[in-house]
Amino acid sequence: MSAPTFGILTGGGDCPGLNAVIRAVTKKLLHDSRAKILGIADGFEGLVRDELRPLSFDDVSGILTRGGTILGTSNRGDPFGQIDKIRATYRRRNLEGIVAIGGDGSIAIAGKLSEAGLRFVCVPKTIDNDVEGTDLTFGFDTALGVVAHAVDALHSTADAHRRVMVVEVMGRTAGWIALYGGVAGGADVILIPEIPFDFGTVAAAILDRHKTRRFTIVVVAEGARPVGGDVVVQRIVSDAPEPTRLGGIGALVARELERLTGYEARVTVLGHLQRGGTPSATDRILATRFGSAAADLVESGQWGRMVALQGNVLVPVPLETVAGKRKLVPTDHELIRAAEAIGTHFGRPQ
Ligand code: F6P
Repeated sequence: MSAPTFGILTGGGDCPGLNAVIRAVTKKLLHDSRAKILGIADGFEGLVRDELRPLSFDDVSGILTRGGTILGTSNRGDPFGQIDKIRATYRRRNLEGIVAIGGDGSIAIAGKLSEAGLRFVCVPKTIDNDVEGTDLTFGFDTALGVVAHAVDALHSTADAHRRVMVVEVMGRTAGWIALYGGVAGGADVILIPEIPFDFGTVAAAILDRHKTRRFTIVVVAEGARPVGGDVVVQRIVSDAPEPTRLGGIGALVARELERLTGYEARVTVLGHLQRGGTPSATDRILATRFGSAAADLVESGQWGRMVALQGNVLVPVPLETVAGKRKLVPTDHELIRAAEAIGTHFGRPQ
Protein backbone atom coordinates (compact mmCIF):
# COMPACT_ATOMS: atom_id res chain seq x y z
CA MET A 1 0.00 0.00 0.00
CA SER A 2 1.37 3.43 -0.91
CA ALA A 3 2.06 6.00 1.81
CA PRO A 4 -0.89 8.30 2.58
CA THR A 5 -0.69 12.00 1.65
CA PHE A 6 -1.76 14.67 4.11
CA GLY A 7 -1.92 18.45 3.67
CA ILE A 8 -1.12 21.12 6.22
CA LEU A 9 -2.08 24.80 6.14
CA THR A 10 -2.02 27.90 8.33
CA GLY A 11 -5.04 30.23 7.99
CA GLY A 12 -6.05 33.67 9.26
CA GLY A 13 -3.77 36.19 10.98
CA ASP A 14 -0.38 34.76 11.86
CA CYS A 15 0.78 34.20 15.42
CA PRO A 16 3.98 33.04 17.13
CA GLY A 17 4.12 29.25 17.32
CA LEU A 18 2.67 28.37 13.89
CA ASN A 19 6.01 26.99 12.73
CA ALA A 20 6.34 24.96 15.93
CA VAL A 21 3.03 23.22 15.10
CA ILE A 22 4.03 22.66 11.45
CA ARG A 23 7.29 21.13 12.67
CA ALA A 24 5.62 18.81 15.19
CA VAL A 25 2.88 17.58 12.82
CA THR A 26 5.28 17.02 9.94
CA LYS A 27 8.01 15.30 11.95
CA LYS A 28 5.58 12.96 13.69
CA LEU A 29 3.70 11.96 10.54
CA LEU A 30 6.90 11.49 8.55
CA HIS A 31 8.41 9.45 11.35
CA ASP A 32 5.41 7.25 12.29
CA SER A 33 3.65 6.57 9.03
CA ARG A 34 6.20 7.66 6.44
CA ALA A 35 3.36 9.72 5.05
CA LYS A 36 3.84 12.33 2.37
CA ILE A 37 3.16 15.80 3.77
CA LEU A 38 2.18 18.63 1.45
CA GLY A 39 2.51 22.19 2.74
CA ILE A 40 -0.34 24.33 1.38
CA ALA A 41 0.60 27.94 0.54
CA ASP A 42 -1.24 30.92 2.02
CA GLY A 43 -4.01 29.14 3.90
CA PHE A 44 -7.12 27.97 2.07
CA GLU A 45 -6.06 30.06 -0.93
CA GLY A 46 -3.34 27.50 -1.70
CA LEU A 47 -6.04 24.83 -1.98
CA VAL A 48 -8.00 26.98 -4.42
CA ARG A 49 -4.86 27.75 -6.46
CA ASP A 50 -3.44 24.22 -6.12
CA GLU A 51 -0.21 25.56 -4.65
CA LEU A 52 1.30 22.80 -2.50
CA ARG A 53 4.83 21.54 -1.93
CA PRO A 54 6.23 18.47 -0.18
CA LEU A 55 7.66 19.02 3.30
CA SER A 56 10.70 17.03 4.41
CA PHE A 57 12.51 16.71 7.76
CA ASP A 58 14.95 19.32 6.48
CA ASP A 59 12.18 21.77 5.60
CA VAL A 60 10.87 21.79 9.18
CA SER A 61 14.19 21.57 10.95
CA GLY A 62 15.25 24.73 12.80
CA ILE A 63 11.84 26.47 12.58
CA LEU A 64 10.74 25.95 16.20
CA THR A 65 11.82 29.42 17.22
CA ARG A 66 10.73 31.29 14.10
CA GLY A 67 7.73 33.65 14.14
CA GLY A 68 5.31 33.85 11.20
CA THR A 69 4.68 30.73 9.13
CA ILE A 70 6.87 29.02 6.53
CA LEU A 71 3.69 28.20 4.58
CA GLY A 72 2.30 31.73 4.40
CA THR A 73 -1.25 32.57 5.45
CA SER A 74 -4.19 34.69 4.38
CA ASN A 75 -7.41 36.00 5.85
CA ARG A 76 -9.24 37.22 2.80
CA GLY A 77 -12.77 35.93 3.08
CA ASP A 78 -14.44 32.56 2.89
CA PRO A 79 -13.17 30.23 0.11
CA PHE A 80 -16.30 28.08 0.38
CA GLY A 81 -17.62 29.62 -2.84
CA GLN A 82 -14.64 27.99 -4.60
CA ILE A 83 -15.27 24.53 -3.21
CA ASP A 84 -15.15 22.97 -6.69
CA LYS A 85 -11.54 24.12 -7.09
CA ILE A 86 -10.72 22.91 -3.58
CA ARG A 87 -12.21 19.48 -4.33
CA ALA A 88 -10.23 19.32 -7.58
CA THR A 89 -6.95 20.05 -5.72
CA TYR A 90 -7.88 17.49 -3.08
CA ARG A 91 -8.38 14.78 -5.72
CA ARG A 92 -5.42 15.75 -7.90
CA ARG A 93 -3.07 15.64 -4.88
CA ASN A 94 -4.59 12.45 -3.45
CA LEU A 95 -5.11 14.10 -0.09
CA GLU A 96 -6.42 11.86 2.70
CA GLY A 97 -7.05 14.88 4.86
CA ILE A 98 -5.66 18.23 6.01
CA VAL A 99 -4.36 19.67 9.27
CA ALA A 100 -5.62 23.28 9.41
CA ILE A 101 -3.97 25.54 11.97
CA GLY A 102 -6.18 28.57 12.46
CA GLY A 103 -8.42 30.71 14.60
CA ASP A 104 -12.20 30.96 14.72
CA GLY A 105 -12.49 31.99 11.04
CA SER A 106 -10.37 29.12 9.71
CA ILE A 107 -12.05 26.62 12.03
CA ALA A 108 -15.47 27.73 10.75
CA ILE A 109 -14.27 27.25 7.13
CA ALA A 110 -12.83 23.80 7.97
CA GLY A 111 -16.15 22.97 9.66
CA LYS A 112 -18.12 23.86 6.52
CA LEU A 113 -15.73 21.98 4.24
CA SER A 114 -15.95 18.95 6.59
CA GLU A 115 -19.74 19.00 6.29
CA ALA A 116 -19.24 19.01 2.52
CA GLY A 117 -17.23 15.77 2.83
CA LEU A 118 -13.60 16.94 3.04
CA ARG A 119 -11.45 15.81 5.99
CA PHE A 120 -9.90 18.21 8.48
CA VAL A 121 -8.19 18.15 11.84
CA CYS A 122 -7.85 21.66 13.32
CA VAL A 123 -5.31 23.19 15.68
CA PRO A 124 -6.45 26.38 17.46
CA LYS A 125 -4.16 29.39 17.09
CA THR A 126 -4.50 33.07 17.86
CA ILE A 127 -2.90 35.61 20.11
CA ASP A 128 -6.47 36.58 21.09
CA ASN A 129 -7.12 33.29 22.98
CA ASP A 130 -10.77 33.46 21.91
CA VAL A 131 -11.25 30.04 20.29
CA GLU A 132 -14.21 28.19 21.77
CA GLY A 133 -13.57 24.77 23.34
CA THR A 134 -9.95 25.24 24.40
CA ASP A 135 -8.69 26.91 27.56
CA LEU A 136 -5.66 28.26 25.73
CA THR A 137 -4.36 28.96 22.23
CA PHE A 138 -0.67 29.22 21.41
CA GLY A 139 0.49 32.76 20.60
CA PHE A 140 -1.39 34.21 23.56
CA ASP A 141 1.52 33.86 25.98
CA THR A 142 3.94 35.58 23.58
CA ALA A 143 1.51 38.49 23.11
CA LEU A 144 1.15 38.81 26.89
CA GLY A 145 4.92 39.10 27.18
CA VAL A 146 4.91 42.02 24.72
CA VAL A 147 2.09 43.78 26.58
CA ALA A 148 3.62 43.26 30.03
CA HIS A 149 7.00 44.47 28.80
CA ALA A 150 5.42 47.62 27.29
CA VAL A 151 3.40 48.41 30.41
CA ASP A 152 6.52 47.91 32.57
CA ALA A 153 8.47 50.35 30.41
CA LEU A 154 5.71 52.98 30.42
CA HIS A 155 5.63 53.19 34.23
CA SER A 156 8.76 55.30 34.59
CA THR A 157 7.90 57.83 31.90
CA ALA A 158 4.30 58.08 33.17
CA ASP A 159 5.64 58.74 36.67
CA ALA A 160 8.14 61.34 35.47
CA HIS A 161 5.41 63.43 33.80
CA ARG A 162 2.40 62.75 36.07
CA ARG A 163 0.61 61.37 33.04
CA VAL A 164 -2.18 59.01 32.16
CA MET A 165 -0.67 56.41 29.81
CA VAL A 166 -3.09 54.53 27.59
CA VAL A 167 -1.89 51.28 25.98
CA GLU A 168 -4.07 49.89 23.18
CA VAL A 169 -3.76 46.14 22.70
CA MET A 170 -5.30 43.68 20.24
CA GLY A 171 -8.66 42.02 20.83
CA ARG A 172 -11.52 43.10 18.59
CA THR A 173 -14.21 41.11 20.35
CA ALA A 174 -12.49 39.37 23.28
CA GLY A 175 -10.52 41.08 26.03
CA TRP A 176 -8.20 38.23 27.06
CA ILE A 177 -4.99 40.05 26.03
CA ALA A 178 -6.03 43.27 27.78
CA LEU A 179 -7.10 41.40 30.92
CA TYR A 180 -4.08 39.11 31.30
CA GLY A 181 -1.53 41.57 29.90
CA GLY A 182 -2.96 44.38 32.02
CA VAL A 183 -2.85 42.32 35.20
CA ALA A 184 0.67 41.09 34.39
CA GLY A 185 1.83 44.68 33.89
CA GLY A 186 0.02 46.03 36.95
CA ALA A 187 -2.29 48.34 34.95
CA ASP A 188 -4.59 50.56 37.03
CA VAL A 189 -7.47 50.52 34.54
CA ILE A 190 -8.33 47.69 32.12
CA LEU A 191 -11.02 48.18 29.48
CA ILE A 192 -12.32 45.14 27.58
CA PRO A 193 -15.01 44.64 24.92
CA GLU A 194 -17.11 42.50 27.25
CA ILE A 195 -17.60 45.34 29.78
CA PRO A 196 -18.80 48.63 28.22
CA PHE A 197 -16.96 51.29 30.20
CA ASP A 198 -18.20 54.55 31.64
CA PHE A 199 -15.85 57.49 31.04
CA GLY A 200 -17.16 59.28 34.13
CA THR A 201 -16.32 56.47 36.54
CA VAL A 202 -12.89 55.88 34.94
CA ALA A 203 -12.10 59.60 35.26
CA ALA A 204 -13.30 59.63 38.88
CA ALA A 205 -11.09 56.63 39.67
CA ILE A 206 -8.07 58.39 38.12
CA LEU A 207 -8.70 61.61 40.05
CA ASP A 208 -9.03 59.61 43.24
CA ARG A 209 -5.82 57.69 42.54
CA HIS A 210 -3.85 60.85 41.77
CA LYS A 211 -4.47 62.11 45.32
CA THR A 212 -1.66 59.75 46.34
CA ARG A 213 -0.04 58.62 43.06
CA ARG A 214 1.62 60.47 40.19
CA PHE A 215 0.37 58.45 37.20
CA THR A 216 -2.18 56.00 35.85
CA ILE A 217 -1.73 53.19 33.34
CA VAL A 218 -4.79 52.26 31.27
CA VAL A 219 -4.79 49.12 29.10
CA VAL A 220 -7.58 49.14 26.52
CA ALA A 221 -8.52 46.37 24.07
CA GLU A 222 -9.04 47.62 20.52
CA GLY A 223 -12.66 46.41 20.64
CA ALA A 224 -13.59 48.07 23.95
CA ARG A 225 -16.46 50.56 23.70
CA PRO A 226 -17.86 53.18 26.08
CA VAL A 227 -21.34 53.03 27.50
CA GLY A 228 -23.43 54.92 24.95
CA GLY A 229 -21.47 53.24 22.13
CA ASP A 230 -21.16 55.00 18.78
CA VAL A 231 -22.99 58.14 19.88
CA VAL A 232 -20.32 58.82 22.53
CA VAL A 233 -17.51 57.80 20.15
CA GLN A 234 -18.80 60.13 17.41
CA ARG A 235 -19.08 63.06 19.80
CA ILE A 236 -15.45 62.66 20.92
CA VAL A 237 -14.18 62.10 17.38
CA SER A 238 -15.93 65.17 15.99
CA ASP A 239 -14.50 67.32 18.81
CA ALA A 240 -10.99 66.05 18.14
CA PRO A 241 -8.30 67.77 16.10
CA GLU A 242 -7.41 66.01 12.83
CA PRO A 243 -4.51 63.71 13.92
CA THR A 244 -6.48 62.25 16.81
CA ARG A 245 -9.36 61.42 14.49
CA LEU A 246 -7.12 58.96 12.71
CA GLY A 247 -6.45 56.93 15.87
CA GLY A 248 -8.37 53.95 17.27
CA ILE A 249 -10.01 53.50 20.65
CA GLY A 250 -6.71 54.14 22.51
CA ALA A 251 -6.41 57.66 21.09
CA LEU A 252 -10.05 58.30 21.84
CA VAL A 253 -9.76 57.12 25.45
CA ALA A 254 -6.62 59.20 26.00
CA ARG A 255 -8.27 62.31 24.60
CA GLU A 256 -11.43 61.99 26.67
CA LEU A 257 -9.62 61.12 29.91
CA GLU A 258 -7.33 64.12 29.42
CA ARG A 259 -10.41 66.34 29.05
CA LEU A 260 -12.21 64.83 32.04
CA THR A 261 -9.26 64.66 34.47
CA GLY A 262 -7.08 67.56 33.41
CA TYR A 263 -4.02 65.27 33.38
CA GLU A 264 -1.97 64.92 30.22
CA ALA A 265 -2.60 61.61 28.51
CA ARG A 266 -0.57 59.76 25.90
CA VAL A 267 -1.35 56.66 23.87
CA THR A 268 0.81 53.72 22.75
CA VAL A 269 -0.68 51.32 20.20
CA LEU A 270 1.12 47.97 20.35
CA GLY A 271 -0.50 46.64 17.15
CA HIS A 272 1.28 43.89 15.26
CA LEU A 273 4.25 43.89 17.62
CA GLN A 274 2.02 41.53 19.62
CA ARG A 275 1.99 39.04 16.75
CA GLY A 276 5.59 39.20 15.64
CA GLY A 277 8.86 37.66 16.74
CA THR A 278 9.89 34.41 18.29
CA PRO A 279 7.34 32.41 20.33
CA SER A 280 7.77 32.27 24.10
CA ALA A 281 8.94 29.00 25.66
CA THR A 282 5.38 28.34 26.87
CA ASP A 283 3.98 28.82 23.35
CA ARG A 284 6.65 26.57 21.83
CA ILE A 285 5.64 23.83 24.25
CA LEU A 286 1.88 24.25 23.71
CA ALA A 287 2.34 24.38 19.92
CA THR A 288 4.43 21.19 20.02
CA ARG A 289 1.84 19.41 22.17
CA PHE A 290 -0.98 20.54 19.86
CA GLY A 291 0.96 19.46 16.77
CA SER A 292 1.72 16.04 18.17
CA ALA A 293 -1.91 15.54 19.28
CA ALA A 294 -3.16 16.64 15.84
CA ALA A 295 -0.88 14.08 14.19
CA ASP A 296 -2.32 11.41 16.54
CA LEU A 297 -5.85 12.29 15.35
CA VAL A 298 -4.73 12.09 11.71
CA GLU A 299 -3.08 8.70 12.26
CA SER A 300 -6.13 7.28 14.00
CA GLY A 301 -8.48 8.71 11.36
CA GLN A 302 -10.34 10.97 13.81
CA TRP A 303 -11.28 13.66 11.28
CA GLY A 304 -13.61 16.58 11.95
CA ARG A 305 -11.96 17.32 15.30
CA MET A 306 -10.01 20.21 16.84
CA VAL A 307 -7.32 19.54 19.42
CA ALA A 308 -8.03 21.47 22.61
CA LEU A 309 -6.43 22.05 25.97
CA GLN A 310 -8.87 21.52 28.82
CA GLY A 311 -7.25 21.85 32.21
CA ASN A 312 -3.85 20.40 31.42
CA VAL A 313 -5.19 17.64 29.22
CA LEU A 314 -5.33 17.58 25.42
CA VAL A 315 -8.70 16.44 24.10
CA PRO A 316 -10.28 16.18 20.63
CA VAL A 317 -13.47 18.24 20.30
CA PRO A 318 -15.89 17.89 17.36
CA LEU A 319 -15.57 20.82 14.91
CA GLU A 320 -19.33 21.41 14.87
CA THR A 321 -19.30 22.21 18.61
CA VAL A 322 -16.70 25.00 18.21
CA ALA A 323 -17.03 26.29 14.62
CA GLY A 324 -18.56 29.76 14.38
CA LYS A 325 -18.29 30.40 18.13
CA ARG A 326 -16.04 32.72 20.11
CA LYS A 327 -14.81 32.41 23.67
CA LEU A 328 -15.36 35.77 25.36
CA VAL A 329 -14.18 36.82 28.82
CA PRO A 330 -16.96 36.15 31.36
CA THR A 331 -17.61 39.46 33.12
CA ASP A 332 -17.30 37.71 36.49
CA HIS A 333 -14.06 35.92 35.48
CA GLU A 334 -11.92 34.95 38.47
CA LEU A 335 -9.02 37.16 37.27
CA ILE A 336 -11.33 40.18 36.94
CA ARG A 337 -12.55 39.61 40.49
CA ALA A 338 -8.96 39.19 41.74
CA ALA A 339 -7.90 42.40 39.98
CA GLU A 340 -10.91 44.35 41.25
CA ALA A 341 -10.16 43.14 44.76
CA ILE A 342 -6.78 44.88 44.57
CA GLY A 343 -8.15 48.11 43.13
CA THR A 344 -7.91 47.62 39.35
CA HIS A 345 -10.72 49.45 37.58
CA PHE A 346 -12.74 48.01 34.70
CA GLY A 347 -14.84 51.10 34.01
CA ARG A 348 -18.05 49.44 35.12
CA PRO A 349 -20.79 52.04 35.42
CA GLN A 350 -21.50 52.81 39.10
O1 F6P B 1 -6.96 37.67 15.21
C1 F6P B 1 -5.87 38.24 15.78
C2 F6P B 1 -5.79 39.71 15.61
O2 F6P B 1 -4.58 39.92 16.13
C3 F6P B 1 -6.85 40.63 16.23
O3 F6P B 1 -6.73 40.84 17.60
C4 F6P B 1 -6.66 41.91 15.44
O4 F6P B 1 -7.77 42.73 15.48
C5 F6P B 1 -6.42 41.36 14.07
O5 F6P B 1 -5.79 40.10 14.25
C6 F6P B 1 -5.67 42.25 13.15
O6 F6P B 1 -5.33 41.52 12.02
P1 F6P B 1 -4.86 42.10 10.62
O7 F6P B 1 -4.36 43.49 10.84
O8 F6P B 1 -3.80 41.16 10.20
O9 F6P B 1 -6.04 42.06 9.76
